[in-house]
Amino acid sequence: MPHRPKSLLIRVRLQRTRDELYAVHVGAGILPSLPGLVRALLPAHRIFLVTDSNVRRFHGQNLLALLRRAGLPAHLLAVPPGEKSKRRQVKARLEDRMLDLGGGRDSLVLALGGGMVCDLAGFVAATFHRGVPFIPIPTTLLAMVDAAIGGKTAVDHPRGKNLIGAFHQPCAVLTDVEFLATLNEREFRSGLSEVVKTAVVGDPDLFGRLERSPSTILSRHPEAMMKLVSACCRVKVRVVEADARDSGLRAVLNFGHTLGHALEHHLRYRLSHGEAVAIGMALEARAAEAARILKAGEAGRIVAVLEKLGLPTLLPKGVSPARVLETARRDKKAERGEVRYALPRKIGEMTRRRDRHTFPLPDRLVLSVLSDRS
Ligand code: GLY
Repeated sequence: MPHRPKSLLIRVRLQRTRDELYAVHVGAGILPSLPGLVRALLPAHRIFLVTDSNVRRFHGQNLLALLRRAGLPAHLLAVPPGEKSKRRQVKARLEDRMLDLGGGRDSLVLALGGGMVCDLAGFVAATFHRGVPFIPIPTTLLAMVDAAIGGKTAVDHPRGKNLIGAFHQPCAVLTDVEFLATLNEREFRSGLSEVVKTAVVGDPDLFGRLERSPSTILSRHPEAMMKLVSACCRVKVRVVEADARDSGLRAVLNFGHTLGHALEHHLRYRLSHGEAVAIGMALEARAAEAARILKAGEAGRIVAVLEKLGLPTLLPKGVSPARVLETARRDKKAERGEVRYALPRKIGEMTRRRDRHTFPLPDRLVLSVLSDRS
């Protein structure tokens, strides 16, 4: 029997206008549908397939060949792997190259890679000729469930993550869960951290599945991955549809990220984003429970799931709690020097009070949670 790729569509409807409506295609083995998708969406004069040099080796060349065989005018542009490529200088080099290759307003940017590539290439697309369309093709779990959806694009600055960027919605997202089979263990587990976050934010059933069957998730079976990724996409799409420009509700997606981003930045990215967010979620959940914001017992469930999935939950040895809190105070999520946290009320539901979705916590409480190494 011929192999029939399975896929499903999740529509993102930001406003009732055509250009703000796009679909997230989630499937197993759906990559060959890319040329058809591109043709159906827009007539692009130049297609720039942006990736990193690791992904280029494993998938970039194949995808380039696929596009060219279909008669599409594609060019492959690779940047060095890792967060260090997410900066203005690398963006400028990509733009120079695209101009050299004749890129104009009718260009299309494809972002093939993890969160770094999606954020960087998306930001290139946001400003190239004042904005050209782009399609993220996420290859990591983290990018599939978070970075590729919702139009946040950015580069980092020495003073913090994602400080220079733009909102630029994709014209489609192509998510092929078959990429997940090739991820190394650390990267896969890092992505699971955002899956846990998504479940805490808005899908208690998904959280229950993570609690009951971590081994099914860790097996990376394509059917299990499709269920997992599509459940996360639905939560993210729901939040983005309600607040595309991050002026309220979207802040709930930052559960675990206030302390997580601070830790990531403080340790100069020696922890992966997912590892830092896992620690951030464990600490913020404990602090929220101590402050009687989170229902009693829920922090323990969150920590237990993270541990079952092989993620860290304690501040690494040698890291000063006071310095982490100080770093959080300088982050863009802080308001006038006040550190603010997106906190669950219970698993599957975030706290909201008088239209606010983030809250301050007493420093002494956060410091005590950060100092607890047991
Ligand atoms: N990654 C959080 C957001 O998209 O808002």
